[in-house]
Amino acid sequence: MDDLRDKYIDLIANAGSESALEDLRVQAIGKKGEISLQMRELGRMTPEERQVAGPRLNALKDEIASALAAKKEALANHALDERLRSEWLDVTLPVRPRRQGTIHPVSQVTEEVTAIFADMGFAVAEGPQIESDWYNFDALNIPGHHPARAEMDTFYTHRAEGDERPPHVLRTHTSPVQIRTMQEQGAPIRIIAPGRVYRADYDMTHTPMFHQIEGLAIDKDISMANLKWVLEEFVKAFFEVDDVELRFRASHFPFTEPSAEVDIRCSWEGGTLKVGTGDDWLEILGSGMVHPHVLRAGNVDPDEWQGFAFGMGIDRIAMLKYGIPDLRAFFDSDLRWLRHYGFAALDVPTLRGGLSR
Ligand code: PHE
Repeated sequence: MDDLRDKYIDLIANAGSESALEDLRVQAIGKKGEISLQMRELGRMTPEERQVAGPRLNALKDEIASALAAKKEALANHALDERLRSEWLDVTLPVRPRRQGTIHPVSQVTEEVTAIFADMGFAVAEGPQIESDWYNFDALNIPGHHPARAEMDTFYTHRAEGDERPPHVLRTHTSPVQIRTMQEQGAPIRIIAPGRVYRADYDMTHTPMFHQIEGLAIDKDISMANLKWVLEEFVKAFFEVDDVELRFRASHFPFTEPSAEVDIRCSWEGGTLKVGTGDDWLEILGSGMVHPHVLRAGNVDPDEWQGFAFGMGIDRIAMLKYGIPDLRAFFDSDLRWLRHYGFAALDVPTLRGGLSR
């Protein structure tokens, strides 16, 4: 019995894992374990022998059991120590210097424009980028045969064979948001609507996706004079100059009457653009008084309400303000370009804090 004891105490002391311990338990005090088998032998002993061997075997069984439990706990403690050692972390170390992302010029300029118009009481409206052709064209007084439909290089969605409904379009301008806002809010209205627009076109100054910002002001007595003042205020604030001269050039859009394209006075001395002085003119937007057909499509009564609308290219004014030569680079996701032209993440433009720094 002493041999048995020494054997198991030794094996338990050297066991390296919980599963090895479990094997030893089965081997020693499991149902068919060595000690259990010895206990069965008690039945064949004389009562005198049994009186001596019985308690000794029981004591041995208990000793082995508690040796197993103690070793099990030691193994668990050791495993925990190992884990604490290997996963140790010095939280007082300084963080690794990491490059911060930058705000894309389109996002920055959208924020700038929004801040300027918000100051003049314009709220922000939105519409879907996938539009019905009714919102993109018909409601804006561009009927099916109108050349503007072809001119816009429209992307159409696919319809299943035999589906006679007109296909949806990727909106070619933000003007459908005019209709949606009139329908949803009714007059009076004072909103801008920035967003993505799509036309099949690609060169230095055109990409198939670009950004516009629409403006719409509807009230009882809004006139071209209000349009002119609002745009002058906007251009002065945006380009951060005290004085600008705007030129309203008679033009034509199906959804405005009269219509005007607006140019700003500028110069290109030494290849850099200067806004406000000079002998050149630069077109920045299309505008006009909202056509009665358009008001009617938006359920606004043209005998009671009138207003102006304008549409401006965000990417285009971003290029002008920040001297970015190629529009295509805007959407290449080239990190070097983004770091060069991007803005600090916390540099939120406000009229009081400064639009750009
Ligand atoms: N939607 C016109 C365009 O994309 C711009 C515009 C908007 C013109 C509103 C007049 C009024 O070119």
